[in-house]
Amino acid sequence: MCGIVACRTDAPVAPFLIGALALLEYRGYDSAGVTVRTTGGITATSRTIARVESLSHKLAGWSGATLPGAGIGHTRWATHGAVTETNAHPHLDCSGRVSIVHNGIIENAEALRRELAARGHRLITQVDSEVISHLVEEELRESGDLRAAVEATIARLTGSWAIVALDADTGRLVAATHRSPLLVASSPSGVFAASDVQAIGSRVDGFQAMRDGDVVELADELIWTRDGQPATPPPFVRSSWTAVVRDLDGHPDFMGKEIAEQPETAARIIDQLAPGIANGALWDGLGIPDFRRVAVLGCGTSLNAGRVVGSAFGALGRLPVSSIIASEASETVLEPGTLVIALSQSGETADVLRAIEDLDLAESSLLALTNTAHSTLARTADSVLDCQAGPEIGVAATKTFVAQAISGVAMALSALVATGRMSRETALLHVDDLRRLPDLLAHAIAVSHDRIPPLIDALHDASGYLFLGRGSGVVYAAEGALKLKELSYRWAEHYPAGELKHGPLALIELGTPVVVIDSGDPRIESNISEVEARGGRVIRIGGAGSTIPALGLSLGTPMPGGMDRWGPLESVVPLQVLARDLALSLGRDVDKPRNLAKSVTVE
Ligand code: M6R
Repeated sequence: MCGIVACRTDAPVAPFLIGALALLEYRGYDSAGVTVRTTGGITATSRTIARVESLSHKLAGWSGATLPGAGIGHTRWATHGAVTETNAHPHLDCSGRVSIVHNGIIENAEALRRELAARGHRLITQVDSEVISHLVEEELRESGDLRAAVEATIARLTGSWAIVALDADTGRLVAATHRSPLLVASSPSGVFAASDVQAIGSRVDGFQAMRDGDVVELADELIWTRDGQPATPPPFVRSSWTAVVRDLDGHPDFMGKEIAEQPETAARIIDQLAPGIANGALWDGLGIPDFRRVAVLGCGTSLNAGRVVGSAFGALGRLPVSSIIASEASETVLEPGTLVIALSQSGETADVLRAIEDLDLAESSLLALTNTAHSTLARTADSVLDCQAGPEIGVAATKTFVAQAISGVAMALSALVATGRMSRETALLHVDDLRRLPDLLAHAIAVSHDRIPPLIDALHDASGYLFLGRGSGVVYAAEGALKLKELSYRWAEHYPAGELKHGPLALIELGTPVVVIDSGDPRIESNISEVEARGGRVIRIGGAGSTIPALGLSLGTPMPGGMDRWGPLESVVPLQVLARDLALSLGRDVDKPRNLAKSVTVE
């Protein structure tokens, strides 16, 4: 989703900005742009609705004064206004002196736009952000000082923002934040700001995360103010940066690669966490006090992974568990003594960050379960469990789901031991179960690639799909429906199978595809019969004899002692493969589904 970079450096700035924006591409975007200050004191601005790299070609044709070392860049994911070059950032004021990039939403943009127009400003985009450049223009005219102009501007905004403004006359750069993350850093190679450490990690060895209300001038060093007064900077966070390897490694797309990586990912995580389970050390190391109940918080696939983790606490520890959809958290009342587990692979999901602000956590603890240890979520939480999935490029979450579920269940088991709710002996049996998972996932991958392609032709024209499960299978049905609609753009809904006769059965007609997660509850048979009696096409994911015999039972071993309470985790594999294969047959881009982004930074 939207991403910001800004820098002052002695090196040529355009290649740096464009390279940094390319490192933010994985978040998802539909347009991009940069503004670079020229030696002549005007700005060279270039925008595109094509790939970030096309900005290089555009700036290569720049024939004005040379482009030295101060500039700002942005990747946009449209919220207000269509995807056009005009609507792409940076946005300029009337004179071209002020350029701004903005993440977030300006809620009073319409009122400000009317005021500005009445005072003679020419606003040329449909974008809320544009008002900022014109407000800075007015304030700059008054004070002549960019920092003061930005301070005065943000006092007039409502909503959320991470802003960087560039004054072409002076080359000054000023950043401001409110409810939208921005990191700043200085190093011998310059001063930098970015939404994500990925973008600047090659130039700095750490960063400072701006807080709500901070204003920072990116001068030769960073100058921190709040409400116009000098402010104490936040702590420096050291970051060891390794470039994300974007290598398909022989796979046709990243989603295919990431599905294939799941057994290895699972094995690596289990090897690392297993020694801390039966002795409670994994939990003790998190430094979180005892708790009486659990709430999992997240969105989309991360929330589904949270529900898996929640069922381990509930079914194995007999603890009350609730799940909170982050975007609906504002009315939630937390009981004292709740362990809130916020799951987010990106750690930047705005709905999750807002939920944490809205929840009263005074008598509760917040644990972040994320794939991004330097994220805003990780910095906000009382403690962090890094799910260590490794880079996931595909917008559809696959291996991060598996990594969140495994690391979360390992943490749950360790917590139950450490708090006296589970014996060490029982925990060791669960560790044995976990150690079987890499093989179960590998088996599920092999079976899925064998059984699913022949089904696709018959499914190609179906306009809607139902996904059913019972007990521990329901959350996997939810994940299957989410993946299918995200990738194929076909309707898909999930239900606990028992709910079928209370409404959704009316949808079944000849050939309606109904995907059933058979996690071992015998009552699923009658639900399958109800579908078949009405001509529905049942695709059963289960053990031997199923349409897709991908689950542990098919290995000829009994369902493990505890995994059936929160698993079968391997059932997610055929759901991922089904969604991907169907999407590919429909000509979809499985790595970048339409309208979606990897890092969802707006509410
Ligand atoms: O970064 P997060 O894990 O917080 O993202 C949450 C959802 O936006 C995400 O899981 C989304 O549902 C996936 N694209 C689904 O595959």
